[in-house]
Amino acid sequence: MNERILVTGAKGQIGSDLAIALRDRYGAKQVIETSRRPLSASDANRLPYEVLDVTDKRRLQELVEQYRIETIYHLAGVLSAKGEQYPDRCWQVNIDGLRNVLEVAKTHRLKVFWPSSIAVFGPHSPKMGTPQFAIEDPSSLYGITKAAGEMLCRYSADRFGVDVRSLRLPGIISHRALPGGGTTDFAVEMFYDALKYGSYTCFVRPDTRLPMMYMPDAIAAILALMQANSTAIAVRSSYNVAAVSFSAVELVAEIQTHLPHFTCDYAPDFRQAIADSWPSVIDDSQARQDWGWQHCYDLPAIVADMLVHLSQHIGSNGAADRAGPQPISGGV
Ligand code: SER
Repeated sequence: MNERILVTGAKGQIGSDLAIALRDRYGAKQVIETSRRPLSASDANRLPYEVLDVTDKRRLQELVEQYRIETIYHLAGVLSAKGEQYPDRCWQVNIDGLRNVLEVAKTHRLKVFWPSSIAVFGPHSPKMGTPQFAIEDPSSLYGITKAAGEMLCRYSADRFGVDVRSLRLPGIISHRALPGGGTTDFAVEMFYDALKYGSYTCFVRPDTRLPMMYMPDAIAAILALMQANSTAIAVRSSYNVAAVSFSAVELVAEIQTHLPHFTCDYAPDFRQAIADSWPSVIDDSQARQDWGWQHCYDLPAIVADMLVHLSQHIGSNGAADRAGPQPISGGV
């Protein structure tokens, strides 16, 4: 029988794509999308949908009981750049929200997916080939909440037998929904502005090299992890997963192979320091070995696919419009 699933942060960058993949796989009625924001008229196809702030444990528990939920994909979170601007909210959502999910999972014997991040690493972690068990010394508040969250996950699994699974996601590139205030957002914004304006002002230096992944690979990783036999999941904190690593200027060059007149200039802001503290390339051999992770999209494939999808949306679809240059976009 198909499992009943609740998705938190369903209107966010990953939630918007993951909810569709889960509906396809498990059936539309099985997937309860939730977010802090009410459903808009254009989202009527997203039912069943409920408003949920993950810091409200009682409401979370009610929904789990009302829909007899078996699995939670807990995606609600405040990303790295926004976390520096709204530290209280970052802590509440990322730590209290996760604790609420893990507590309810313990009581109701739920399975949980929760995304961690490359942000758990910091200046003293190896920058190239960062191993699964490298030192974690995050310098952003977001990274601190993710590192603590990983420990909470492992503790819940070891101490209470909660079947919680997690990935340290790199920057995710996608075209359905915008990222909500992360440091890797430049790698998404660049596509929108290349198509709309023919130019982009990048908020990190050209040589900034970070691990990245295309959304279809991220969705495949999440689904594969959640389907793996529980005995194969040796890591209950969070798995390194990698796909590609490229610098900002390499992304510009790849976009220019399709849009030769595209230009990019650089105006690094506070996000540069966050990016500089993160690894450039991470080693995900444990994920590949334990549950067969492999990625499909390299940089040329990502760029080609992004441009095809975004050029269809831009102009005709307000949702695909990032509304011009702006410092930080999106929300929880
Ligand atoms: N994409 C995230 C961010 O930039 C990293 O996990 O905050």
